[in-house]
Amino acid sequence: MTEKKQKTVVSGIRPTGNLHLGNYFGAVRSFVKMQSEYRCYFFIADLHSLTTHPTPDNLQAGVKQVLAEYLACGIDPEQATIFIQSDVPEVVELYTFLNMNAYLGELERTTSFKEKARQNPDNVNAGLLTYPVLMAADIIIHKAHFVPVGKDQEQNLEMARKFATRFNHMYGHRLFPLPKPFTFDGHEMIKVPGLDGSGKMGKSEGNGIFLYEDPADIRKKVMRAVTDSGPTMMNQEKPEPIRNLFTLMKIVSTPETVAFFDGQYNQCVIRYGDMKKQLAEDIIAFTAPIRERILAIRNDEVYLARVAREGAEKARESAAKTLAEVKALIGLKRLW
Ligand code: TYM
Repeated sequence: MTEKKQKTVVSGIRPTGNLHLGNYFGAVRSFVKMQSEYRCYFFIADLHSLTTHPTPDNLQAGVKQVLAEYLACGIDPEQATIFIQSDVPEVVELYTFLNMNAYLGELERTTSFKEKARQNPDNVNAGLLTYPVLMAADIIIHKAHFVPVGKDQEQNLEMARKFATRFNHMYGHRLFPLPKPFTFDGHEMIKVPGLDGSGKMGKSEGNGIFLYEDPADIRKKVMRAVTDSGPTMMNQEKPEPIRNLFTLMKIVSTPETVAFFDGQYNQCVIRYGDMKKQLAEDIIAFTAPIRERILAIRNDEVYLARVAREGAEKARESAAKTLAEVKALIGLKRLW
């Protein structure tokens, strides 16, 4: 085993819809990169998705779709452990233990909790409040060192470190390593923007461009992207909607293409229509092969079921080992 394979990586995605460019460039791209070098656990966070009460049919379909999409993106079950969160009940047990040391004040102060409570005041459930605790359990049950996630998960990851530290202190034992964010290029955690003027690309934002999306629909979405009437001064600063267009272009297009349109912008001769056309084609060049693989894998239920079953076995083995240590430290391992 190489030195790096001894370090552990954990990350998950909720099965709340098809994967979009934000999921891919914020997370999945790193999964693919890391799988050959680290001991990786990548899962489908079906329990986390229950906070928004999906119908059983939607949940079934969502889990299957994300599993097919993980595989289509190149996550290899021979290299990484791919599993479904609810197949590993040990996580829920650890979540219960961690909940005893997670405080109402700190949970209520979490940005994503406050945001979701504001957006859906009729559904401020306890699962939403303790969401970061379940996420901490997911991560530390495998003693993860690295967690590849996008910028929006930064605070949840900080909380995971906090809960791990608290447990270590409380029981006077360095059982859990403190999980660090992993970024693809070793720099900033990334936020893929939407093309609707402001903010991030997200499933609930309704502004996603999906890996599975039909090329014609991608063209339509990109051509509709919010812009302005164009720069009026040479080298002027770009307003947010234009910056977002460039950010997306930096992600999917070549540096030469970005430099070309940047030059055009700075010279006040940019034609947003041309830029959008180019951006749409570059997105499609990237998503089309993934879409084909999704189509090929999605209906192979025998294969998908085997991947999920074998992944669950491996993940449970790792989780059960940690849980036994946790229970012994807490005093739940019967000594009589
Ligand atoms: P979720 O399902 O909302 O998103 C999955 C992953 O995609 C990233 N992401 C983005 N990155 C950059 N730009 C965007 N616009 C963008 N949108 C989404 C997210 O940062 C994430 O990495 N709570 C998690 C799921 C989870 C988890 C975990 C993650 C549960 N347990 C343990 C890591 C470790 C979530 O809701 O992600």
